[in-house]
Amino acid sequence: MASITLNHLVKKYGDGFPAVNDISIDIADGEFIILVGPSGCGKSTLLRMIVGLEDITDGDLLINGQRVNDKAPRDRNLAMVFQNYALYPHLTVYENIAFPLRLAKGKHSEDQVNKLVTEAAATLELTDHLQRKPANLSGGQRQRVAMGRAIVRQADAFLFDEPLSNLDAKLRGQMRSEISQMQRRLGVTSVYVTHDQTEAMTLGDRVAVLKKGELQQIASPRELYEHPVNLFVAGFIGSPSMNFLPATLEGTTLRTALGDITIPEDKARKAAGKRVVLVGVRPEFFEDAKLVEDSKLPHGSTFTATLTHTEWLGNEQYGYINFDPAPEMRELLNSLARDMDADELRPQVVVTLDAASRIRGGREAEIWLDTRKLHLFDAESGENLTRDAEAGAALTLEAAEDRAEEIATAQQADRDGSAFGGGASGNGASGNGTSPAGHTTVDAGTRSGGSSAAGGKHAAG
Ligand SMILES: Nc1ncnc2c1ncn2[C@@H]1O[C@H](COP(=O)(O)OP(=O)(O)OP(=O)(O)O)[C@@H](O)[C@H]1O
Ligand SMILES: [Mg+2]
Repeated sequence: MASITLNHLVKKYGDGFPAVNDISIDIADGEFIILVGPSGCGKSTLLRMIVGLEDITDGDLLINGQRVNDKAPRDRNLAMVFQNYALYPHLTVYENIAFPLRLAKGKHSEDQVNKLVTEAAATLELTDHLQRKPANLSGGQRQRVAMGRAIVRQADAFLFDEPLSNLDAKLRGQMRSEISQMQRRLGVTSVYVTHDQTEAMTLGDRVAVLKKGELQQIASPRELYEHPVNLFVAGFIGSPSMNFLPATLEGTTLRTALGDITIPEDKARKAAGKRVVLVGVRPEFFEDAKLVEDSKLPHGSTFTATLTHTEWLGNEQYGYINFDPAPEMRELLNSLARDMDADELRPQVVVTLDAASRIRGGREAEIWLDTRKLHLFDAESGENLTRDAEAGAALTLEAAEDRAEEIATAQQADRDGSAFGGGASGNGASGNGTSPAGHTTVDAGTRSGGSSAAGGKHAAG
């Protein structure tokens, strides 16, 4: 087990371009951290710097308080799981999992190898498949074998680089919950790279949002969702995305292309002095005005709009409203799109309506908007002017408490031998904090080699 500290980390590749630019994160022992962001924002680079596959240009990397910038990957005792989990096709599942132990020649007795592999296999529900070859396994089972390899190493931390992106959607969902439960059971510090925001939101204790090598915000999923620091985080997290509506602010009135919206005084005060702002409204802040309870109505603002069409999803519906921004506002939307790495930002608002709503496309309808919840962003800097930092921090603190409790419960259930989270028995491969130092750990060779090449290369053992 380990804490990992990133202290003003910088990575410049040959051309001097900072792929990672001054990133500082304190990762607590046992914490599950997600690195998320658009393609090319530096996620893999950062992960590879932690594991030691990439030199650190500037800043310090500490594991358990010790500076490890100059330590070789194998001396960092971290286990990495890649997207292209390269298994050795001619070896059984058992031997594939045992592989890192065999590599550390003579370090483990046959009994120890057997114990570690059997325990890892139980954790991953691979016990029945130990004598099979990888070719006869499903994609998810193969991914679990790759994870088994990381587990037997008894590494201080797991580093994942998009481990599920090769799997189909259903399997991804399954593996996601398995990884989550395994991480709780083992209590192993984990850093997980993804650009799938569902993975980010469901797996992470805290999620770090990166943009062009820079850390935008790191917080619990809920804090990110409810209290984003800027336009980028607000737009990146959540699906369908937050709507952005250009507006001019006069007192407590927002003049928008959808009409005038009266907002609570405290919000207006935070944006005082700004003439042009971007109003951030999540789809679920809207509702069919007819279906809003009387007691709620005064907390929002009602406007008339014609939806282009609606999509009925069973539990709710999405409605679409096109708006026509003033020319200066259009330019604002374009620059916002560039900032968010999108081709264009359509002048369109997506609203979530109750499944029972009779609002349909082409007809005028009354839409209610919960103005207590909307955000106001600075049109130039993108800063969230209405963010409640204190409330946000409280949410992240809450998440940390939940995590501690979950780990304790999962580990207790494991000790009791109950089938919590998928039939595990024994206390997993780790969880007792006795990982041997100096264990060989990084799976780098197998990655570049691909499965067949790696298999050939190591065929002799
Ligand atoms: N070996 C390299 N030499 C030069 N530039 C590189 C190298 N590897 C990565 N980069 C650049 O560094 C930036 C970050 O790359 P990185 O692979 O970390 O992105 P990423 O966030 O993992 O993206 P993806 O989601 O596509 O995997 C990119 O602009 C990339 O072009
Ligand atoms: Mg990557």
